[in-house]
Amino acid sequence: MDINSDDVQDDTTPFFEESGSEDGPQEDVGSAARSSDFRPEYRKKAIRSYVLRAGRMTEGQRNAFSRGWSFYGLKLDDGPIDAEIIFGRKAPLIIEIGFGMGDSLLQMASAAPDQDFIGIEVHPPGVGRLIASAEEQKITNLRVYLADATDVLNECIPAQSLQRLQLYFPDPWHKKKHNKRRIVQPQFVQLIRDKLEVGGVLHMATDWQHYAEQMLEVLEVAPGFKNTVAEQQYSPRPDYRPLTKFEKRGERLGHGVWDLLYQKID
Ligand SMILES: C[S@@+](CC[C@H](N)C(=O)[O-])C[C@H]1O[C@@H](n2cnc3c(N)ncnc32)[C@H](O)[C@@H]1O
Repeated sequence: MDINSDDVQDDTTPFFEESGSEDGPQEDVGSAARSSDFRPEYRKKAIRSYVLRAGRMTEGQRNAFSRGWSFYGLKLDDGPIDAEIIFGRKAPLIIEIGFGMGDSLLQMASAAPDQDFIGIEVHPPGVGRLIASAEEQKITNLRVYLADATDVLNECIPAQSLQRLQLYFPDPWHKKKHNKRRIVQPQFVQLIRDKLEVGGVLHMATDWQHYAEQMLEVLEVAPGFKNTVAEQQYSPRPDYRPLTKFEKRGERLGHGVWDLLYQKID
């Protein structure tokens, strides 16, 4: 999960190769998942905030993916969504970017049945695992994209539609030469501003102090946002955010954690 080297992948059997089209899968798929559905969708771009990693999908994740995709899966190529149609009701909508293996997102969806959640992740085993667990727990207020979050926000999420955007432990890109790959940048924050409703909240958390400082620096001067605590202040972890798997590991290593909550004011 901790990706800081140059596009290094692990040495397990890959579930996809990154040698295909930079535009992601083009195949028009039906509701049943095919092997190509295990590939993340993304558009060509100069800088990406992630590395497409090789890794294993367990048999269970693969089966869950195939079985559950028609209910839980959303596709970048399907374009703009109408959340009321997807969830069959009008409810507050929350998006989480980079949910990893999805444990905390699942916990949140389960704990808040009156809210609707959409997770966006490029790592297929995480998406498979989240679908498997959601199926098992019969969670209905959750959907997922296996895609680049910037592309999904740009192409699929209507303006002013989100009550909260969650970004928990985004890849820290420790090395200075990699800092430009961090997802929190002024332009990205303005994209989020467009998608939040007025009063909606951007909630970030990181265990990397330098990234926390960058988040603070970017958000304090971001047009349209106000720190929910006070200027230049980090926030206590709100009760609704469970500890993530990544965070638990950080805690064991003695890392600090910084939460930042900014409200869209216009
Ligand atoms: C360091 S991990 C943290 C995972 C999880 N939030 C946690 O705390 O355990 C960051 C995750 O963000 C995902 N990610 C990074 N950039 C992304 C993007 N542009 N779109 C979707 N997922 C992204 C990565 O694949 C990775 O799984």
